[in-house]
Amino acid sequence: MADNVNSELLALNQRLLDSIARADWKTYQEFCDPTMTCFEPEAIGQLVEGLEFHHFYFHLGGATAPFHTTMASPHVRVMGDVAVVCYVRLNQSVSGGMPSTSAVGETRVWQKQDGVWKHVHFHRSVPTK
Ligand code: GLY
Repeated sequence: MADNVNSELLALNQRLLDSIARADWKTYQEFCDPTMTCFEPEAIGQLVEGLEFHHFYFHLGGATAPFHTTMASPHVRVMGDVAVVCYVRLNQSVSGGMPSTSAVGETRVWQKQDGVWKHVHFHRSVPTK
């Protein structure tokens, strides 16, 4: 049972990441609670609430060159109607014909609302050496 929930959350989270890569706002919005909060490097240390901040980036369009997102070493913790999914996000891209990979740590919090998992908070940080 727990394995099923973990697999469901990992699949949802992967779809969320893929929607970001494709700039698929419809899917992203469907997965997110409208009051979602986040800390991410783009917000330069500020806690952002709501989706408009994120919408800005979707307007810029999706990846135009090959792009692939992997959740490395994912961990899922379900606490009733709340789940924490954390992993290192590997972004593979190609620029000027050269493939490269970048890595960021992400924690994403999901809440089951009326039987549907909604994304309610995330924290992304760039690894330091
Ligand atoms: N910046 C949008 C997200 O990572 O969910």
